[in-house]
Amino acid sequence: MTDNAIDVHGLVKRYGRRTVVDHVDMTLAPGRICGFLGPNGSGKTTTLRLICGLLTPDEGTGTVLGQDLITGHDIIKRQTGYMTQKFGLYEDLSIRENLEFVGRIYGLDRLHTRVDAALDRLGLATRQTQLAGALSGGWKQRLSLAACVLHEPRLLLLDEPTAGVDPKARRAFWDEIHALAATGITVLVSTHYMDEAERCHEIAYIAYGKVMARGTSDEVIATANLAAWRATGPGADRLAPMLTNAPGVTAAAAFGATLHVCGPDPAKVEAAIAALHPNPEIVWERAEPTLEDVFIHLMSLSTDNAGDG
Ligand SMILES: Nc1ncnc2c1ncn2[C@@H]1O[C@H](COP(=O)(O)OP(=O)(O)O)[C@@H](O)[C@H]1O
Ligand SMILES: [Mg+2]
Repeated sequence: MTDNAIDVHGLVKRYGRRTVVDHVDMTLAPGRICGFLGPNGSGKTTTLRLICGLLTPDEGTGTVLGQDLITGHDIIKRQTGYMTQKFGLYEDLSIRENLEFVGRIYGLDRLHTRVDAALDRLGLATRQTQLAGALSGGWKQRLSLAACVLHEPRLLLLDEPTAGVDPKARRAFWDEIHALAATGITVLVSTHYMDEAERCHEIAYIAYGKVMARGTSDEVIATANLAAWRATGPGADRLAPMLTNAPGVTAAAAFGATLHVCGPDPAKVEAAIAALHPNPEIVWERAEPTLEDVFIHLMSLSTDNAGDG
């Protein structure tokens, strides 16, 4: 028996000869928010569906919300809110009608009270008569989240919930995710945004079906053990193309007028910097590697198995 909300091991999902989820382990304590990151096609959506019982794994065992992943999937599904990658509600129904519709599909009791509570909680009450189709991306996502929590799930699986949403609405959405987690709801959320990864308690980086890094943002950065430099001075930002493909350089990118360079072996990065045309006006100093550096590094390490079948 485990206290973890998610405790699954060795999950495998194959499509034909392709293994799209390759021995994934995932443990997550109740009330924690875990960010799921990785390139497109790396198996994030498939893993989320395996965990909520929508897909059956070819291999693997474990429990979700204390229920056996295989035999308990009906109970797991009932206690899970799953927000899919695409907006799945009716554009020609109002906000309120959408929530009532979802509630009736699930056969929920106290529907009126539940819808009122969801509208209040997500700040949708004053807009409840607006048609979903007329909402901006940010409000649509809030409505989708409201629909996911209507049945008071204990686990939320959110698949790229803020793709294409503006920064202010993304921040509000994340404030809401934290508020839900504070009530004990466990959250697994896939995202491509680094700032969102940093708002998670923990992250898991998955590439080509394999978990390549796991832990808090600080732990993931420390484990990768990358060395980074920053260059400032006139034209520093324009050095990126000269360094990007140098041996041992993982990434070289301009941030405003400064340049950020990193790689796994400090000596190789230093050699790449030394090989540049000398320029006394450019100052080089050591910098902290970022989460983005780590993900680019991990992506370059992982092998693409996309052609296997
Ligand atoms: N039903 C399916 N049949 C065949 N291949 C699939 C199916 N669903 C997903 N895949 C493949 O599995 C891989 C992982 O997909 P997915 O889990 O959607 O990745 P992600 O969410 O990380 O972008 C992709 O290459 C995708 O094409
Ligand atoms: Mg996906």
